[in-house]
Amino acid sequence: MVDPDRFLADLHELRGFGAADVGKGVVRPAYSEADIAARRWLAGRMENAGLQVEVDPMGNVFGLAEGTSLLMGSHSDSQPEGGWLDGALGVVAALEVARASQATGGPPVSVVSFQDEEGRFGVTTGSTVWSGLLSMEKADTLSDHAGVTLAEARAAMADMVTGQVDPTQFSGFMEMHIEQGPTLDATHEQIGVVTDIVGIRDMKITFEGQQNHAGTTPMHLRRDAFQAVSAFNALLEERLRNVVTPQTVWTIGHVSLHPNASSIVPGRAVFSMQWRDADVDRLTRMERIIRGTAQEVAAQRGMQLSYGPMLGLEPVHMDAGLQEALCRAARVHAPETWRKMPSGALHDATNVSRLMPVAMLFVPSIGGVSHTFEEDTDEDDLVVGLKVLADAVASLA
Ligand code: GLV
Ligand code: MN
Ligand code: MN
Repeated sequence: MVDPDRFLADLHELRGFGAADVGKGVVRPAYSEADIAARRWLAGRMENAGLQVEVDPMGNVFGLAEGTSLLMGSHSDSQPEGGWLDGALGVVAALEVARASQATGGPPVSVVSFQDEEGRFGVTTGSTVWSGLLSMEKADTLSDHAGVTLAEARAAMADMVTGQVDPTQFSGFMEMHIEQGPTLDATHEQIGVVTDIVGIRDMKITFEGQQNHAGTTPMHLRRDAFQAVSAFNALLEERLRNVVTPQTVWTIGHVSLHPNASSIVPGRAVFSMQWRDADVDRLTRMERIIRGTAQEVAAQRGMQLSYGPMLGLEPVHMDAGLQEALCRAARVHAPETWRKMPSGALHDATNVSRLMPVAMLFVPSIGGVSHTFEEDTDEDDLVVGLKVLADAVASLA
């Protein structure tokens, strides 16, 4: 039997690493001091649970059961301003299910916390590398918004690395997560069994104009990189409307202006451009519009235009058999308050689905908010989710 108190106590303890002063938030980006300290703590917890700790060169932390096992988990890194549950919930729930399954002679369960799911260096970087979609060599050249490379960052936890972890020892993967959207909260439901995960594209775009004096440079002579971003964004809003559905999303979430001073016409703007949809063709059509619009703005405003590496993950379906195991358990623990639903957030499960059958379970996010310190979930819902997960696993015996 799972122990809800032990599970919640571990979850709160994990929150202590990088705890923010606001709400239940955490600041635990991949490879930060807080992230590495949390990974050491987690490794200790895995060891206490009788699992063998292995850390791969990326910094993905595994607690391995003997022989063939079911892999469960998520990630323990956070966004620069993140909530206490995004990722952490799936890791701690996995740990609790592994302990309970051992105690009751259930199926062997291994636990993982993938590294950099939140994309300091890319998109779900740790599981992308582990699944073989991206080589460690290529990943090492990726840089964060401050220009630090992944190779430099991961050196900070090199002492923990034991070697590669062979995926063929796992029979499947299950990930519990908060929904991070409004659906379950709005319908007062407790459980979502995930059917599909959307696809994503993400790249950096740079406009390079002319840095100049903000007092003396006439408006008509300026090559202002911020004005280029602004015009690009306005045009894009118009043009994407013709190809998107209500589920399609796009975001410019990070803009870096150079030199970022009140009295200087900015000469350079580097910004993130990300878009997501369940349909690969639509993602491609959006890319054409994004590149075409950037080109047009650059030509009109005398900008040099360049692109960073294009990162992306394809939309994936969850495994029917594992989904059904979750549905059966949901009918028991949340009769009338569960549903099947797609995921608009990305998850490590997308990458792991290249290697083995995967399934995901959601619990509600209060107010539908996440990637903010305000993110939270009712603890009763966390426990119902844990029980559904544990019963689904037990039924696979
Ligand atoms: C994962 O955190 C995502 O951005 O969907
Ligand atoms: Mn997450
Ligand atoms: Mn996240």
